[in-house]
Amino acid sequence: MRNSATFFMATVMGIAVMTTSASADINKGQKWYTKNCKECHGTGTKGAAMLTQNEWDDFFAKNGEVIIKKHVGTKAEPYFNGDRFKDQAEHLRDFLFEYGSDSGNVPAC
Ligand code: HEC
Repeated sequence: MRNSATFFMATVMGIAVMTTSASADINKGQKWYTKNCKECHGTGTKGAAMLTQNEWDDFFAKNGEVIIKKHVGTKAEPYFNGDRFKDQAEHLRDFLFEYGSDSGNVPAC
């Protein structure tokens, strides 16, 4: 019991250290991805690999016109048309671009 609690604490602290060390925007984007996209598109690794870096650029151009259109008629439409997406788009783009399918980068989770 006591040992597993210690292990749990060590794990939590390890994750905290990992999340603070990388670039702020990419972390924010990853957080928003997990919150708003994972439900339908799977983990960040899987989601970011949906598109190449150029494609992510296109999808997020003009305030996300293309990605918003892709979600018309899905359960995510209100999110994409709302203020939350407007606020988060820039960070989401940074995260998804960083780990795009042709980036050679793989996120930690
Ligand atoms: C409610 C479920 C749902 C959520 C939440 C959701 N999506 Fe989607 N997404 C879909 C569906 C359905 C499609 C259309 C699938 C298709 O065209 O093959 C789609 C399509 C896409 C596509 C286009 C893929 C392609 O190859 O054309 C991208 C990129 C994408 N979503 C990214 C995201 C991102 C980033 C988020 C979070 C900000 C997100 N989605 C949130 C359901 C969702």
